Amino acid sequence: MKRLDDFRMRLGGQDLVPIMIGGMGVDISTSDLALEAARLGGVGHISDAMIKTVTDRRYKTKFVKAKQAQYQYNVASADKSAVKFNLEDLAQATRLHVGRTIERKRGSGLVFINCMEKLTMNGPKDTLSVRLNSALDAGIDGITLAAGLHLGSFALMEAHPRFRHAKLGIIVSSLRALQLFLKKNSRLNRLPDYVVVEGPLAGGHLGFGMDWAKYDLATIVAEIQQWLQQQQLDIPLIPAGGIFTGGDAVRFLEAGAAGVQVATRFTVTHECGLPDDIKQEYFRANEDDIEVNEISPTGYPMRMIKSSPGIGDGIRPNCEAYGYLLDASGKCAYIDAYNREVAAHPGERKVKVWDKTCLCTHMRNFDIWTCGHMAWRLKDTSVRQPDGSYQLLSAQHVFEDYQFSTGGQVRLPEPEVAAAAAD
Ligand SMILES: Cc1cc2nc3c(=O)[nH]c(=O)nc-3n(C[C@H](O)[C@H](O)[C@H](O)COP(=O)(O)O)c2cc1C
Repeated sequence: MKRLDDFRMRLGGQDLVPIMIGGMGVDISTSDLALEAARLGGVGHISDAMIKTVTDRRYKTKFVKAKQAQYQYNVASADKSAVKFNLEDLAQATRLHVGRTIERKRGSGLVFINCMEKLTMNGPKDTLSVRLNSALDAGIDGITLAAGLHLGSFALMEAHPRFRHAKLGIIVSSLRALQLFLKKNSRLNRLPDYVVVEGPLAGGHLGFGMDWAKYDLATIVAEIQQWLQQQQLDIPLIPAGGIFTGGDAVRFLEAGAAGVQVATRFTVTHECGLPDDIKQEYFRANEDDIEVNEISPTGYPMRMIKSSPGIGDGIRPNCEAYGYLLDASGKCAYIDAYNREVAAHPGERKVKVWDKTCLCTHMRNFDIWTCGHMAWRLKDTSVRQPDGSYQLLSAQHVFEDYQFSTGGQVRLPEPEVAAAAAD
C-alpha cells in the first residue's frame, strides 16, 4: 500500500514532500506553522489577511492605532469611503511579516503567502499590488492567489524582477475559473506554477454557492486534469478540502495530482495561531455543530462551528481600524446590516445582527471558528487528558502522519501525561 512519501511534488524544478499546508487567515497559519512545513520538506503558507493587525501583535508595530487615530472622526458615520489604507504602511507590514518569516526558514521546503482578492480594502487594485509586490520584495518563495478570480493579479506583478522566478499559483474551485484566469493572462507568457483545486469541504470561504454539497472534489480535479491534457498544459494540480488522512491524499496522487493542500488537521497543533481554548472547541465539534452559512460580507459562503461567538454579534463596524472588506466604493454588507438593525431597535444598547458579521473584527479576535467539513473527526486524531481536554499535537506529528501513514489510518500522539509520569 502506497504512502504519500512515495511521491514527490515537483514545483518549478524543485522536489518537495507533496504536502502543502493551506493559508489560514488572520494568523491561524502562523509563521511557526509554515516554517515547520518547510523544515519537513513540504510547503507552508503564511497569510497576509489583516497584515497590519498581525504585525502589531507579532512585531509590536502600531499600524492599527495609527489608522484608527487618523479616521477616528468617522467612527459614527455609515459612509466609510474616506477610510483608506496607507500604502507605505501596508508595504512595510507585508515586508516585515514575510521578511521575518523567511529569515527563520530552515530545511528544503518552501514558504508561500496566501493573498485573498476579496480583501478589497477600499482600493482593490492599489492595495493588492502593494501586497503582492511587497511579499516578492521580502523574498517569499511563492504566492497563492485566493478568494477571487484574480484576473489582473499576474499583471500587477509583471514588472517585478522575481515575477518569473517566484512560484505563483492560484486556487480555483472549477474548470471555468481556471480557464478565465489562463485566458486573461495569456499575453504574459507565464503559466501558474501550480493550481490548488479547492472542493466544497474546505475551511474558510467556499468557491461554491449554498448548493456546495452537490459538488465533489475528485470530479472537479479530474475534469481540470483532462482539460489541461487536451490543451497540452503541464501545470501541477493540488487538490484541497476534506483530505483528512494520508490515505485520502494518496488516492489523489495516484490519480495524477502533484500534491495535496490540507489545513483543518493543523488547527489543533501547538504552532497554529488559534488560542488553545478554541483549539479545544475544534476538537470537540461534532458533525452537526458545523455549518456553511452566508454571514461573511464577502458574499462567499463560509464554513464554521455554529457556536462561534461572532455569529449574531452586533458590534459597531470597525472599519476605521480595519476595513479590509470595504469594496472599491467603501461599502461592506455588514455596515448595511448593522445600520438596519440599529434603526429597527432605537435606544437599544447592543443589537443582534444575524445575516452578516463584522468579519474583520471577529476573525481578528478568533471569534469566527472557521473549519473544514471534516473538523468533527479531529477528536479521533488525539488523546484525551485526565481533565477531559484533548492533547494538542505538534505540526510535525500531523505532517508526518499525512506523509507516512497508510490507508485511512491516523497515528495518535504519545500521551504527554503518561510520558511525564514514566520519567
Ligand atoms: C481555520 C481556517 C482558515 C482558513 N483561511 C483561509 C484563508 O485565509 N485563505 C484561503 O485561501 N483559504 C483559507 N482556508 C482554506 C485552507 O487554506 C485549505 O485550502 C482548506 O481548508 C483545505 O481543506 P481541509 O481544511 O479540509 O484540509 C482556511 C481553512 C481553515 C481551516
